[in-house]
Amino acid sequence: MALAQHAAPVRNPYSKLPNWLYPTFVVGVLSLFVAFATWAVFFQPAGYFGPYLSPFDSPLITLGPIPPAIWVAWAPLAFRLTCYYYRKAYFRSFLWHPRSCAVAEPHRARYRGETAFPWIFNNFHRFAFYATFVQVLFLAYDAIIAFNFAGHFGVGLGSVLMLVNVGLLSAYTFGCHALRHLAGGNLDCFSCSAAASARFRLWRGITVLNIRHDRWAWASLASVAATDIYIRLLMAGVLHDPRWIA
Ligand code: FES
Repeated sequence: MALAQHAAPVRNPYSKLPNWLYPTFVVGVLSLFVAFATWAVFFQPAGYFGPYLSPFDSPLITLGPIPPAIWVAWAPLAFRLTCYYYRKAYFRSFLWHPRSCAVAEPHRARYRGETAFPWIFNNFHRFAFYATFVQVLFLAYDAIIAFNFAGHFGVGLGSVLMLVNVGLLSAYTFGCHALRHLAGGNLDCFSCSAAASARFRLWRGITVLNIRHDRWAWASLASVAATDIYIRLLMAGVLHDPRWIA
């Protein structure tokens, strides 16, 4: 009772916005990103300049004439497509299913949730997480290499971009709902053993990231595109990489 009297009211910062704004934003940004990623993955050579490697191409696998990004891009793509947050975003925005809370949706056939094709594939999110986890490790390695200029330590704008990118991707990946459940789910008592206490601490850490999962999702999407574009502009000679080398 005392808590109810003293707790500050929690306001929804978006409540004054028109309910079409969020779906329009999602449709616009996701469509742009999908178009750009399709171009980069299927029609471009590897994004590689000096110690910088595009996140679309990491780890770099070159086998014949097949664009290298094809071997790796499926993992983050599957991860994002099946992400709990993105599901909400594209169900509301692309399918209007529903468009927003408390907004009526058009008449539909029987709702079968994620028990039938194609949405049944959303149940594989945990496996997409495992694949993406491995890719984030490669990206972390790439970010370290990005500070190595022919054997000398240095810092370029590309190094900073790659570091920020892997930081944002890690915040998005390690705030995953499925990982949070893996860490803290199926436990009745967090303090009954050392292992359960360790899982509780891990679950709490993941929860810190999970609270802002939507923002990490958008920020990491933007940083992946920005890092790739920057490296391709360096490759094309349009930009010069400002850098300091020891
Ligand atoms: S729920 Fe979004 S990445 Fe797992």
